Amino acid sequence: MDVLSSPNDVRCLVRRRRASGHLIGVVPTMGALHEGHLSLIRAARAECDTVVTTIFVNPTQFGPDEDFERYPRTPEADLELCREAGTSIVFIPNVDDMYTPDAATTVTVSGITRVFEGASRPTHFDGVTTVVAKLFHITEPDRAYFGQKDYQQQLVIRKMASDLNWPVTIVTCPVVRDADGLALSSRNRYLTDSQRRQALVLNQALTTAAEQALAGHRPWQIENTLTETLKHADGIRPDYAAVVDPDTLQSVPDDCRRAVALAAVWVGSTRLIDNRLLTFPET
Ligand code: PAJ
Repeated sequence: MDVLSSPNDVRCLVRRRRASGHLIGVVPTMGALHEGHLSLIRAARAECDTVVTTIFVNPTQFGPDEDFERYPRTPEADLELCREAGTSIVFIPNVDDMYTPDAATTVTVSGITRVFEGASRPTHFDGVTTVVAKLFHITEPDRAYFGQKDYQQQLVIRKMASDLNWPVTIVTCPVVRDADGLALSSRNRYLTDSQRRQALVLNQALTTAAEQALAGHRPWQIENTLTETLKHADGIRPDYAAVVDPDTLQSVPDDCRRAVALAAVWVGSTRLIDNRLLTFPET
């Protein structure tokens, strides 16, 4: 496994691999790796000859009052996990390797970035798309792996790749959960034991939403139940909860066949997000 911090070194090495016929997969991460990240690396390993895992806590996607400074950084453990999961090249740049002080270019996707995460975190997606665009340019992947955990993020990246004619296939991998149902997240380590128990309502409410969809409840009824459940749950402050179109994140008609339930909640000072795809029976 090669561990590199220079964008040029990564590009040269990846190009050599490609010249020898390798299919290149990239897994962008911010480190503090857990089984969710590792599932992406393993999926890339199964489909690609060279797997590049990037580890970079990207300052531009954090708002001024967010947790950039205290975001967990565990580089040594991350490298070991990368190796075990089958990474070929780790790209672990410093902030200076990625951004020059006079950088003046931002990649912006409009529309779909304005709602939900984008409404609550107005500068977030510009930071995400700019860094992912840079990572794609540096690693020139055939395939790029993202988690359904960040549902809106993978849609935004699909839109960016398609709008900019990027020759990369975006692969979305399922949400990995702990045994109790909580979606794995680097931010879960901020939770106290009692907050962690309170956070379980998020997955439970989304599970109910999926069951209600299968039982033929209307999208608006499901959204109401989800909103009410989160509103009344102990220790939880909901940010948003909605049932929307899985491709556009716009509202859905009563007779839709597919939707996604999205929710974000605060548990103390920790913000958690989760989602569930919903399938409705034919009416
Ligand atoms: P990060 O939060 O580290 O997540 C990296 C990738 O792992 C994302 O695609 C995310 O959706 C996925 N992931 C996180 N938890 C997961 C889980 N429980 N199950 C499945 N996949 C999971 O998302 C980012 O970093 C950044 O925004 C990034 C794309 C790297 C750009 O900086």
